[in-house]
Amino acid sequence: MKVLDNLRTPSLLQTLQLIAQPTKTLENCAAKYGDIFTMRVMGLKSPPIVFFSHPQAISDCFAIPAKKLDFKKATHVFKPLFGENSIVFKEARSHQQQRQLLLPAFHGDNLKSYGQAICQITEEVTQNWTSGTDICIHSFMSNITLEIILKVVFGITHGARYNTLADITNPEAITQLSYLNAVCQETLRIHPIALICTPRMVKDRVEMMGHEFTSETVLVPCIYLAHRRAETYPEPEQFRPERFLNQKFSPYEYFPFGGGYRGCIGAAFSMYEIKLATAIILSRFELSLTDKRPVHPVRRGITIVPSGGVKMVVTKKAKLKKQTILST
Ligand code: HEM
Repeated sequence: MKVLDNLRTPSLLQTLQLIAQPTKTLENCAAKYGDIFTMRVMGLKSPPIVFFSHPQAISDCFAIPAKKLDFKKATHVFKPLFGENSIVFKEARSHQQQRQLLLPAFHGDNLKSYGQAICQITEEVTQNWTSGTDICIHSFMSNITLEIILKVVFGITHGARYNTLADITNPEAITQLSYLNAVCQETLRIHPIALICTPRMVKDRVEMMGHEFTSETVLVPCIYLAHRRAETYPEPEQFRPERFLNQKFSPYEYFPFGGGYRGCIGAAFSMYEIKLATAIILSRFELSLTDKRPVHPVRRGITIVPSGGVKMVVTKKAKLKKQTILST
């Protein structure tokens, strides 16, 4: 049985480093210890927390039966953020039941029926933009996301409001555009919003990629490091959407929304929305950075956001015909 590298730094220091500089800390550990290593980042008496990014380890982990893992104990630190009743803290049957209740709203035909509304809301929110308008992309996209989810999924039904609106364009066709898809995928590869999947604590013992893990060990599939493996993504620091045109990555190499039975229920909906909002905005406006300093990924709560919010200035494009969006 292989022995894992353990970080020697005191646990409190490791915890502070990961909180203050999460991406840099993970990168440093991967450079020093490789695909799989153990940290102690849950305070002074932290259990061993194993971070891994090798596709085989990710695949093995997603396949571990839920009854062998405790999600509640490993995620209790997130309670103030998500609230007691979040699906994240549910186990076994009650977890499955909640997923079955929530999933349909974000999939299949329901998803398709939101397309028109997503385009419409993006149009409404940007209608006051004129050439020279300064915007902060991060807050703008956060607002638009909230607006969309409240109106489209939880609020006014598309039937009541949106059927009467003019047909802007064909959302389904937009979401099929291969280069747009590749750009959105590459963005979530290089800057995943969540650095890790939901941590899971071993109940008794499990095996992963030839390593055995005993009770109380916390397993953490690391999205950020998996997305930056040079074996999978040559020159991983380069933003290169073409990777996604030329190759199909497995769900253990590319998983910005996690995976397996705990994977994000909003994954399909989010990709749909990202593509539509991006296409609508870029078909009407040109955006350029107002601040030339480089943007860094920084932690906000449990997510990663761009430093400084990405300040941009808008230039309005001449009105385009429908076909132009679809042919780019
Ligand atoms: C770009 C947007 C989003 C990203 C990158 C994202 C990412 C993730 C990730 C990485 C996980 C953990 C999965 C795992 O452990 O394997 C997750 C879980 C989850 N996400 Fe998302 N998410 C996004 C948007 C959404 C939206 C819009 C919703 C609302 C519908 C949502 C609802 C959930 C829920 C309920 C879970 C917990 C699933 C479970 O424990 O069974 N997410 N998300």
